[in-house]
Amino acid sequence: MVKKTLIAAAAISLSAMALTACGDDSDSASDSGDGKITMGFAQVGAESGWRTANTKSIQDSAKDAGVELKFTDAQGKQENQIQAIRSYIQQKVDVIAFSPVVETGWDAVLQEAKAANIPVILTDRAVDSEDTSLYKTFLGSDFVVEGEKAGQWLVDNAADSDVNGDGKINVVQLEGTTGAAPAIDRAEGFADTIKADPTIEVTASQTGDFTRDGGKQVMESFLQSDDSIDVVYAHNDDMGLGAIEAIEAAGLQPGTDIKIITVDAVHDGMQALADGKINFIVECSPLLGPQLMDLAKKVLDGEEVEPRILTEETTFTQEQAAEALPDRKY
Ligand code: AHR
Repeated sequence: MVKKTLIAAAAISLSAMALTACGDDSDSASDSGDGKITMGFAQVGAESGWRTANTKSIQDSAKDAGVELKFTDAQGKQENQIQAIRSYIQQKVDVIAFSPVVETGWDAVLQEAKAANIPVILTDRAVDSEDTSLYKTFLGSDFVVEGEKAGQWLVDNAADSDVNGDGKINVVQLEGTTGAAPAIDRAEGFADTIKADPTIEVTASQTGDFTRDGGKQVMESFLQSDDSIDVVYAHNDDMGLGAIEAIEAAGLQPGTDIKIITVDAVHDGMQALADGKINFIVECSPLLGPQLMDLAKKVLDGEEVEPRILTEETTFTQEQAAEALPDRKY
């Protein structure tokens, strides 16, 4: 029994070292007593332009706020995130923050953090844990509302979106990572909203895993099996940009022959929108770093924080994108 525990402890500290080596964190041990906050942050990965901007925001804000950041990139795998969180518990960081790859399966590791008295802050994505005492707060967007905004644009622009002129608006959906909150919620918000117009129908829906390559591959297969696609609804810009490549390779004009709606509003997406290749983008802000550092300080000072903190966001038409691009920060 003792031997097993020792082996387990050794395995945890080895994996902690491996995580430290692949992250960009500093080697110094966390010290809850020196007045400096040490935060362990378990990031989803680097799947999209949004994620890159989000990581930069967190790293820059930690520096600005004097927070020592231990950062790991889970490469899109929940097991890597769980391992990273366990290593942060082992290292006795002051606070843990993470953006969960998927919604389910977090209770055990969150209970471990709670038992170790380490507060957890969720950023960007939610978990489905019923016990909300397992985390202090959740900072991020309302993904259902984002899906609704995308659907509302289509309902409002239905007259121009029946590109094939067959009286129906055939939509193909490029879903985000299966099981991830933004994929589930953006699909739900969109589906509920387009019910207002019975001519709009989602005819095919498949995951492109929030990546440009994924979006391109799925769109290629949609185009091969269906020549009546009017609209692409992509759960993020990167998949929309991949779809543009597939549409152009098929000899069609994105934004005209096939309308495109995406979510995020990162620089490349906004450029494609201003260029007329995307028709509408729902903004999802990745700039969560400053608020996260502020929340961490408050939580550690014992201040009350709201259990849910929503990010403020807008939407962009082609004209608005051209106007906003020069000042866009990401
Ligand atoms: O969780 C936020 C989503 O994750 C972004 O919309 C997407 O680009 C990212 O990969």
